[in-house]
Amino acid sequence: MDQTVTPLAARRSAGLKGRVRVPGDKSISHRALILGALTVGETRIEGLLEGEDVINTGKAMRALGANVERVGEGAWRVQGVGVAGFAQPAKALDFGNSGTGCRLVIGAVAGCPITATFDGDASLRSRPQRRVLDPLERMGARAISIADGGRLPLTLQGARDPIPIVYAPPAASAQLKSAVLLAGLAAPGETVVAEAEATRDHTERMLRHFGADVRVENEGAHGRRVTLKGQPELVPAPVMVPADPSSAAFPMVAGLIVPGSDIVLEGVMTNVTRTGLFTTLREMGATIEELDRRLEGGEDVADLRVRTSALKGVEVPPERAPFMIDEYLVLGVAAAFAEGTTRMRGLKELRVKESDRLAATADMLRVNGIDVEIEGDDLIVHGKGRAAGGGLVKTHMDHRIAMSALVMGLASEKPVQVDDTAFIATSFPGFVEMMRRMGGELS
Ligand code: S3P
Repeated sequence: MDQTVTPLAARRSAGLKGRVRVPGDKSISHRALILGALTVGETRIEGLLEGEDVINTGKAMRALGANVERVGEGAWRVQGVGVAGFAQPAKALDFGNSGTGCRLVIGAVAGCPITATFDGDASLRSRPQRRVLDPLERMGARAISIADGGRLPLTLQGARDPIPIVYAPPAASAQLKSAVLLAGLAAPGETVVAEAEATRDHTERMLRHFGADVRVENEGAHGRRVTLKGQPELVPAPVMVPADPSSAAFPMVAGLIVPGSDIVLEGVMTNVTRTGLFTTLREMGATIEELDRRLEGGEDVADLRVRTSALKGVEVPPERAPFMIDEYLVLGVAAAFAEGTTRMRGLKELRVKESDRLAATADMLRVNGIDVEIEGDDLIVHGKGRAAGGGLVKTHMDHRIAMSALVMGLASEKPVQVDDTAFIATSFPGFVEMMRRMGGELS
């Protein structure tokens, strides 16, 4: 990561206009590289997110023996080594800022008879890894060294003969689910993940896309049971990465709160496990039109037309959290510009993201004159239809805090300053330029 600190301010802007395409989906990009590396043969990827998080996953795949090559803008080729075929890496794998890259590769390595060390930046080093190691140790992997409190750096010895398990994750986390499924690829028999609350399903979909036998059944009120038949031969298949709904969230909220805006976000993935924010914003009164629904690379996508809207406060139910877990920061901004109170319930998982996002969202809003409370795991924003702005927001090495604060500044009375925007490059390279192109005043 380029460590140059890059402060920036966002000022009240005239209506945003234009058609833009945000970069490729981060979750799918990580998985395309990892699963591509576990196939036998060559996988071609189009529209890969070329953000630092995903680039680090690509480097890890190379260090583990796959051939990963960039052949054009967003176009990549991966020559895989086959299930359980990873080679022992010569040095520590550095995942930078990315919890997803790190945890998914921990899972994939856990099923291989190799030893690898995992590390990352100060933000990633502060995040819990024990939760991922627990099921992987049941499958036969061993964490042979790990920093205090179950954090990075950690050294993992993969299982020589992985054991399939039936696993009920203690938290609603697609990363946990995916780590176990990736380890389960190398195990004989069936690996089962029974989620009490369904989470994003990209791993299951892509495993199928590469020829694995994966069964998904609904279970309980909000749950899913995923069964993977182990030791498949994964067959290469082309991957087209749709535009990331979690990145589209930033221009979308900007389009809703900056008066006189009318923008189109092209080709945004509308997989229901990712669109909790869109549902919530519509409940708040947002005008978000789906212009051209279609399938791209096996995922539902649409062009989304967003126009400035009068928003009102709503209650966001806890069971929606897994479908919008990365979007609460920017929803906090929308809630500030709404009339009335928005209560976002059940946000425990936000405390273990790139930063403690529950505290960070409250701080970001408070320094800009918004009345906010945290009650248990709930975030409560008392919206007044406007924000004073004028605050300096600390990003805590968290890309989504930086982007949310800048979106807020585009509609606030006084400019909003951000102490460091460098981390935006982990997930949304070109964000600042894209917002400027639509008329956003960022300097
Ligand atoms: C992701 C899962 C989520 C999300 C992250 C991406 C994934 O994390 O916050 O940005 O690609 O699986 P958790 O699964 O830990 O909630």
